[in-house]
Amino acid sequence: MIPASDYDSAEKKCLPYWNVFFDTLLEFIPDNCGNILELASGTGFLTEILVEKLPCTDITCLDINREYIEFARRKKNLAGVKFITGDMRKFLSRRRYDTILISQALAFLTDYDRQKLGENIHHMLTDGGVFIAGDIFCPESLFERDLYKKLWAKFMIKKGFSPEEAKGMIDPLDDYCQGNTISSFEEMLDSAGFSRVIVPYRREYYGIIVAYK
Ligand SMILES: C[S@@+](CC[C@H](N)C(=O)[O-])C[C@H]1O[C@@H](n2cnc3c(N)ncnc32)[C@H](O)[C@@H]1O
Repeated sequence: MIPASDYDSAEKKCLPYWNVFFDTLLEFIPDNCGNILELASGTGFLTEILVEKLPCTDITCLDINREYIEFARRKKNLAGVKFITGDMRKFLSRRRYDTILISQALAFLTDYDRQKLGENIHHMLTDGGVFIAGDIFCPESLFERDLYKKLWAKFMIKKGFSPEEAKGMIDPLDDYCQGNTISSFEEMLDSAGFSRVIVPYRREYYGIIVAYK
């Protein structure tokens, strides 16, 4: 696990075009903001971009890692954000949210937990609410997988990682995202009851899926 103090700078060196990825995620938050739940919010990397760029004030962040939550809580620009340490797989609040966000955390769940989470998210959204998920998804073919891995390693090495470090970060991905492709995740959200599911961003291992209740 990356220490909280190193996480934000590592994110910029590991995620190609991180700013385009996160800006695209935020584009789908409704103009009136409403209330927002960010799951697996980590050190608050996305949360900081959110409060900097949008006039949203009612934000709740949840992460299982206490160190990350405490690190995010100490960020001055996140003073108005509510933080919860908890497991998103067991989180089912009575409160309804207009937007639920998640970035780079679905890949760490089993198929069963992802399915259950999709159903819980659907339940926690207000009518017309939106679920925005930006994550790592398994490429649909071995050809794509091998090519994207090579390109990703090249990017990380350019950012200062050794070839061994880059390989150490990229290789376990296939175990994490086993079978979770963009299309299988779309199908899962359809079956969880979402009325519309769209994919506005796709780049190598990364994708953004937006689902409307
Ligand atoms: C790669 S980090 C992404 C953090 C943040 N969303 C971002 O994009 O910078 C994955 C995060 O998922 C969190 N996480 C993993 N499993 C979780 C769970 N079951 N419940 C809540 N958070 C979880 C980890 O603690 C970590 O902060």
